Amino acid sequence: MDANGDGIGDLNGITAKLDHLTELGVNAVWLSPCYKSPNIDNGYDISDYRDIMDDFGTLDDWKRMISEMHKRGIKLIMDLVANHTSSEHFWFKEARKSKDNPYHDYYVWRKQIPNDWQSVFGGSAWEYNKATDEYYLHSFAVAQPDLNWENPAVRREMCDVVDYWVNLGVDGFRCDVLNYISKDFNTGLQFNGPRLHEFTKELFGRKEVKHIFTVGECSMGTDKIVDICGADRDELTCIFQFDHFDVGRVGRFGIRSHKIDEIRDILVFWQNFTQKNNLIYTLFTDNHDQTNYISRLGNDKEYRYECATMFAAMFYLLKGIPFIYQGQEFGMPQPNYDDIELFDDIETRKFYNSVKGKMPNNELMKLINFGSRDNFRHPMCWYNSKNYGFGVGDTWLALHSRGGEVNLENDKASKKSVFEFYKKIIDLRKASKAIRLGAFENITVGNGYFAYLRKFDDEEILVVCNFETEREITRLPEWGYLFGNGNNRQPNGKYAPYETAIFKK
Ligand code: NOJ
Repeated sequence: MDANGDGIGDLNGITAKLDHLTELGVNAVWLSPCYKSPNIDNGYDISDYRDIMDDFGTLDDWKRMISEMHKRGIKLIMDLVANHTSSEHFWFKEARKSKDNPYHDYYVWRKQIPNDWQSVFGGSAWEYNKATDEYYLHSFAVAQPDLNWENPAVRREMCDVVDYWVNLGVDGFRCDVLNYISKDFNTGLQFNGPRLHEFTKELFGRKEVKHIFTVGECSMGTDKIVDICGADRDELTCIFQFDHFDVGRVGRFGIRSHKIDEIRDILVFWQNFTQKNNLIYTLFTDNHDQTNYISRLGNDKEYRYECATMFAAMFYLLKGIPFIYQGQEFGMPQPNYDDIELFDDIETRKFYNSVKGKMPNNELMKLINFGSRDNFRHPMCWYNSKNYGFGVGDTWLALHSRGGEVNLENDKASKKSVFEFYKKIIDLRKASKAIRLGAFENITVGNGYFAYLRKFDDEEILVVCNFETEREITRLPEWGYLFGNGNNRQPNGKYAPYETAIFKK
């Protein structure tokens, strides 16, 4: 929410809306970066790690926000961008001046381009710097130079940044592309390099900060996850793992056909794996980088309520820590726009410009709407009025194309309220040891649905999620109905498309 009318959501807007989170049952908030930044990548290009971006407010606003959160029992998780800074950061401005500058070795330089490493946003990851006649590494945008973690001074700086915010009261960090901080030039590893564990432990294993919650954005195989999240490792509490997002796409913008069964199989694999290795799993369907599940995998027109609630039961009653992205709690679908001018995201614009003219524009816009991060970063839709209640100024990104129909107020007033369903899910998690701590057991036989059990001592819960088409589901234990999104009150029987129901022994 935009509290000062400049069209951009801000910290005071968050503070003003905390009661919404309390009502939903949320007990921690992860904020994407709100530090000083030229903002070429929505704040993931930081120019000062210790201050707040003007657009979002001041450090005093931040202090008021965290104190209001803590009063309500809500914890605050800040985003820590440790792999790169903005090219406008003082360190880089100094570093690029000369090879003798004390900050030069804070970044990764080579006399010649040494390899074909690519920027995640497209093109070579190396950029020429005239003053030193060298190339610097940027795994993301040109204006996001990678820090050189091999340099102990860089590691000390980042520890200081962590300590600064912990001293101000933050409860945890979401660590942006953390697995990029260690690279291996010999073997060509741009991320998941050999010193990742050592660096992570140096950052978070210190006794002053050991107690805080950390979730690393780390795409990595099972072995590395065991290492980085193991209870005895002093590295991370948990990671975000993205297998369930890669289904249905080739790269960010390439669509391939897929079924929800594939997602179920991935969830089952990770539930079993994390259970066996005693790891904490993270549960999420949407975030600021990923297109909405209900639009991508479901049917957000005829079955929007059913999809939103079925995916909620499918994910958030599993074992792990649930993360909800703003708008998900009332079934916000993707807006989809026909005009590229309504997209601001650096990755989207780069992709559009590289493909423009090579395929019909309407086909290209389909790919953009499928993959673009701006297709779900739209201003929040609170109620049906000017700017859907986001604020009075012209909004920083286009308003949602369906904001008049789908907004929090409308949803709450509806008999089919996604918000009410989310509350039930969260209440059940809080009340039930089986859901929070219990074992997971997949009892699905065949395809087209997902049935699983959660058990702790005598408490047993059965979650049944039917997918796209009507189906008869059998061979389930005959337990008592808790809640659901359809008419079925029996575990065994006919389920409508995207119907879900939860039962208790
Ligand atoms: C991952 C973040 O989630 C994304 O939004 C950002 O563009 C990149 N890391 C680079 O920091």
